[in-house]
Amino acid sequence: MRKRLIVSAAGVAALLLAVPAAAAPTAVGTPGIGDPYYPTYGNGGYDVSHYDIRLTYQPATDRLEGTTTILATATQDLTRFNLDFALDVSQVLVNGRPAGYAATGEQELEVTPAVPLAKGAAATVVVRYTGTPSKVSRYGFTAWLRTPDGGVAAGEPEAAWWWFPSNDHPADKATFDVSVQVPDGTQAISNGTLVSQTSRLGWTRFNWRQNKPQATYLTTLALGRFDISTDTTPSGLPVLTAYSKDLGDNAGAARASVQRTGEVLDWLSGWFGPYPFGSAGGYVPNVTTGYALETQGRVFYSPRQFAAGSNTSVVVHELAHQWYGDSVSLQRWSDIWLNEGFARYAQWLWSEHENEGTAQEIADYVYALHPAGDTFWNVKPGDPGPERQFDAAVYDRGALTIQALRNTVGEEAFFRILKEWPAEHRYGNATIAQFQAFAERVSGKPLGDLLNTWLYTAGRPAAGPVAPQGG
Ligand code: ARG
Ligand code: ZN
Repeated sequence: MRKRLIVSAAGVAALLLAVPAAAAPTAVGTPGIGDPYYPTYGNGGYDVSHYDIRLTYQPATDRLEGTTTILATATQDLTRFNLDFALDVSQVLVNGRPAGYAATGEQELEVTPAVPLAKGAAATVVVRYTGTPSKVSRYGFTAWLRTPDGGVAAGEPEAAWWWFPSNDHPADKATFDVSVQVPDGTQAISNGTLVSQTSRLGWTRFNWRQNKPQATYLTTLALGRFDISTDTTPSGLPVLTAYSKDLGDNAGAARASVQRTGEVLDWLSGWFGPYPFGSAGGYVPNVTTGYALETQGRVFYSPRQFAAGSNTSVVVHELAHQWYGDSVSLQRWSDIWLNEGFARYAQWLWSEHENEGTAQEIADYVYALHPAGDTFWNVKPGDPGPERQFDAAVYDRGALTIQALRNTVGEEAFFRILKEWPAEHRYGNATIAQFQAFAERVSGKPLGDLLNTWLYTAGRPAAGPVAPQGG
């Protein structure tokens, strides 16, 4: 409603002056990228092309300090924008000028550049910071894993806040340089290739480079005392693996599994097409957590994955993610089936390869294992919600869905879909809806009813993924 105003000349001048301020809110980047599960994750208004992270780490105290330089492009006019971060910031520069900054919410860092950014403008953002990541809790937890000899950043969907400021969402992927200085005798492991390692004054600096687009949660850092092995596969791919010197009884089984990385990658390439990255490998730090994570080109494994014996199946799972999750990343966290359903299905194919049961046999077994009414069937793999994102049903019902797809489209179309999807969206992002459209195009079959039943409807489907009879 408009009020009738009688204003003086000075009042008119004040109103005119107020116009730019009134227009300003449209030039503020949103504090989230628009993910329905995690409204504050990622940020709006800019796109990052590269992160340069340069750190010093003291394992005795878990003290981290350093500078991250972010190369970004404004996708709208920006008087202010956000980063996601949780450590203590001491300075922010935007295009060389000191910027205003404020920590708000759980993990937001609001940055106000001295000179606003115009849509399309390049921005170089430098953030200097310090912290003790293991002491920093957000939403009641810390994704930084402290070990007796150092620390590890590996978590999904959040891990970056504890060691570098970012646009923390897989929809904004970037290349990375990670440079870390640690006391001589400690190693720093990250993604990609070790481009240099130098020592002076009692410190060793490790410079790692990832030159393919990488999601922030797939960017990992491990600091500790490791034995590092390097190798090259018959096809020429460099493989670097690292094992904590302190793996106890799990050391043999861990090596016997992770040292098969090259063999597993060659086998997976047969199903999924060429390996998308320039280097590969994995590391096993002396953490106590239970999960593994498909950190790009250098998988994070917990020693607990090998406590019950060797476990090539987990290696297959995490390496399958290099195609399904890392090269082709989800667009929104609700698309998690595109990661976990396919990584679990790769384990079923590996079982068949190892003569330990075919994919169809495992599907029949899993379907029978969960009778109607089992809470397992309450989870919808196509939209599990943030609390159920990593529920076993996303993996197992997700893989049942893929077996049902295989039986519906036939062997030839199915294996074309498995191989061509990673090529279609290489180094990009995709949604389940795009996968459906793609699979329909390749197979020539409508798949809406099938995926609706298996991915989006609670309850046990009336029939399992039954193999077609006869020829
Ligand atoms: N993507 C990982 C895997 O399937 C799951 C990691 C779960 N994350 C976590 N913080 N528990 O191997
Ligand atoms: Zn997984």
